Amino acid sequence: MKSILITGGAGFIGSNFVPYFAAKYPDYFLVNLDLLTYAGDLANLREMAGVKNYAFVKGDIGDAALVSALFARYDFDGVIHFAAESHVDNSIANPRAFVETNVLGAFTLLDAARAHWRGEKRRFHHISTDEVYGSLGATGLFTEATPYAPNSPYSASKAASDMLARAFHHTYGIDATISNCSNNYGPKQHAEKLIPTIIRKALSGENIPLYGDGKNVRDWLYVLDHCRAIDLIFHRGAAGETYNIGGKNERTNLEIVAAICAVLDERRPRAVSYKEQITFVADRPGHDRRYAIDATKLATRLGWQAQESFDTGIVKTVEWYLAASGGECSIQLPRPSGRG
Ligand SMILES: NC(=O)c1ccc[n+]([C@@H]2O[C@H](COP(=O)([O-])OP(=O)(O)OC[C@H]3O[C@@H](n4cnc5c(N)ncnc54)[C@H](O)[C@@H]3O)[C@@H](O)[C@H]2O)c1
Repeated sequence: MKSILITGGAGFIGSNFVPYFAAKYPDYFLVNLDLLTYAGDLANLREMAGVKNYAFVKGDIGDAALVSALFARYDFDGVIHFAAESHVDNSIANPRAFVETNVLGAFTLLDAARAHWRGEKRRFHHISTDEVYGSLGATGLFTEATPYAPNSPYSASKAASDMLARAFHHTYGIDATISNCSNNYGPKQHAEKLIPTIIRKALSGENIPLYGDGKNVRDWLYVLDHCRAIDLIFHRGAAGETYNIGGKNERTNLEIVAAICAVLDERRPRAVSYKEQITFVADRPGHDRRYAIDATKLATRLGWQAQESFDTGIVKTVEWYLAASGGECSIQLPRPSGRG
């Protein structure tokens, strides 16, 4: 039985990935290391209760003694690294936490892999974001050759961790792969992020806040399509390579809000459309204008294709939040958000 360390498995993407991966690979033993920060929630992993090939460990990826002890105890055959501080707005308010977790935490994991694997070819997959590439103009796509130009403390910290993964491959022979993905959407996302915020505000009759003119463009990917891409890269990606992941679903934030309001108008009709609640608020400092991903390398080399269209994915997503909230979103949110 192979043992795999998954970090950040109680967060949004990790908690979609863990049940998918455990079901697909019943002969793997998964160890989920998560600090359960405000962004992690074991309720996201209820379906893992009683699953035999799974263990949860509460702890910090930056705790070198803990990480080393886990490597020694489980003799990991691979690492899939999700854990991060992930919210751009928070990185503007408190950048230190982003450097500590995203940079030093990634370093701690890579260094443990270096010490324990001693040159053996075991896969370390590092999950990153398209935000490392900066902002696009009206045209063009991010490819794996696009120079890094991070604009927020979040994207800068992710860029630094990508570089560490790359350097540990070239310097120490760690069998590292990196993926840079566009904005994810789907079940289990934290209440602070754009889509849960829109749904909650719409249902509670509050203003739906949109940064600036609402025309910032993101390339949206259904979270399970991201999970399937990570699975492919972890198993079949080439060592030292980076793969971009994106769904070719460019939408302005205004279009995202309109799509959600249209689903709500149908599922929870009211006298006036939910769109009437849209309110434009002061833009985020340094707000990147447009992200769009060219995922040709992943498609041609590993055969990945997104399975969910935006139109079906957004309906599934809204329905999940409606079911989770019993129709009245009760999750609290401190401020408006612009990141997936
Ligand atoms: N959400 C997106 O749209 C998106 C897009 C591209 C890439 N990513 C990347 O995917 C990964 C997961 O993103 P997400 O949206 O699921 O994030 P999230 O904020 O929902 O979850 C992060 C998880 O990491 C855990 N964590 C935070 N600090 C930790 C620490 N020091 N030690 C251990 N665990 C810690 C949290 O408790 C939480 O469970 C991140 O690396 C992020 O940069 C996210």
